[in-house]
Amino acid sequence: MIRISFPADFLWGTATSSYQIEGAWQEGGKGESIWDRFTHTPGKIKDGSTGDVACDHYHRYKDDVALMRELGLGGYRFSVSWPRILPAGKGEVNQRGLDFYSRLTDTLLEAGIEPLLTLYHWDLPQALDDLGGWTNRDIARWFGDYAAVVAQALGDRVKLWTTLNEPQIFGMLGYATGEHAPGSTDQLQYLHLSHYINLAHGDGVAAIRNEASTAKVGCVLQLPPIHPRSESDEDRKAARIMDGLMNRWYAEPVLIGSYPEDILELFKDLDLPIRDGDIERIHQPLDFAGLNLYSRMFAYHDANIPLMEAMLDFDHRIPGAPYTHFGWEIYPQSIYESLTRFKNEWGDPEVYVTENGIAADDKLVDGEVNDRERIDYLASYVAEVRRAMDDGVKVKGYFQWSFMDNFEWAEGYGSRWGIVHVDYDSLVRTPKASAYWYRDLIRAGGYDR
Ligand code: FCB
Repeated sequence: MIRISFPADFLWGTATSSYQIEGAWQEGGKGESIWDRFTHTPGKIKDGSTGDVACDHYHRYKDDVALMRELGLGGYRFSVSWPRILPAGKGEVNQRGLDFYSRLTDTLLEAGIEPLLTLYHWDLPQALDDLGGWTNRDIARWFGDYAAVVAQALGDRVKLWTTLNEPQIFGMLGYATGEHAPGSTDQLQYLHLSHYINLAHGDGVAAIRNEASTAKVGCVLQLPPIHPRSESDEDRKAARIMDGLMNRWYAEPVLIGSYPEDILELFKDLDLPIRDGDIERIHQPLDFAGLNLYSRMFAYHDANIPLMEAMLDFDHRIPGAPYTHFGWEIYPQSIYESLTRFKNEWGDPEVYVTENGIAADDKLVDGEVNDRERIDYLASYVAEVRRAMDDGVKVKGYFQWSFMDNFEWAEGYGSRWGIVHVDYDSLVRTPKASAYWYRDLIRAGGYDR
């Protein structure tokens, strides 16, 4: 057994997002979001479910925060629903929406829990999508205006701010593969709008700083290591391209102020809408970077793919390797690998792990959920976080995904990610064994492994 221990000021928390837990989709003056529209469109969600009610956190936030306190959480990452604040996406502010997040913030602070706020976790106002949404260059300005409204209201109390959750994931799944809202499948358009996403991040940071001078501001990137499917030179090259497209395309303009040269070269004939001054607009000084990390991915060479000749292989399986209920490989080294990139390639910022966790086939038996698999997963990944810190990466905190079971996008409610179990009929919350394991880890500042 070895002891894995952490500094006393290390911030231990859990994460959620507005659409996945709040419910109350038509209450308190909230406008429609693209996820409301998408889930109400037949055939889009595996189990036909919606986030209309979800965990009903909008009405139960006080009890939820009380439970967080009981579990000794030091931090809580939540997102603000843009259409709750600006029902039409821009223009008129819905005070009742701001009041909800203000009450949530106060409740967290009273419980001694540090809020980490994310401005955008995918629930774009439908009214903005009607104007082109992320395909419209103006989205960056709209996002900046929205960020200013939220920062003005909460900037006196919320210290940790982040802009967009996982830019490449909502961009690709929403606009290239169509699996997520709003469900477009135009690859070329996706490449164009990826730049608008980066611009929006920059305008968001500037707006937060303008309104809240004491805010610490960061980004939230999912940066899975992309490994070659085989050791062939061609597959290695493909993995590098996929890493460029998925990871460096978003991390580098934001963190070091340039798009990756190899990808620019690849797309040189595509007339991407990158204008003079844009890079400066994107590359705002940040106080920290947020890393969401679950596993690694594999890529391979395919001569039939235009331009890139590279493809991700979601079906690649390593014989004997462990996989989660969700089908993702359990590969703890992935979090070490991605964390060290911040130090070695991206300017050595302070880093928070803003998401990490596992979907498991959890069963509530006699009032208990014995989710041993989750405990093992978390223990193995957290040990790799410690290893990255030992190697000099400035990791300041860790937010487990997720505080409670919730609506998992296109998958609906079929996969459970929480350390707290939610009964979707009664909406009763039951902490799982992993919640108590996490509580003990936080109390002791470490654990034996
Ligand atoms: C991440 C998302 C989060 C949740 C987890 C499982 O990509 O940010 O909302 O869906 O995956």
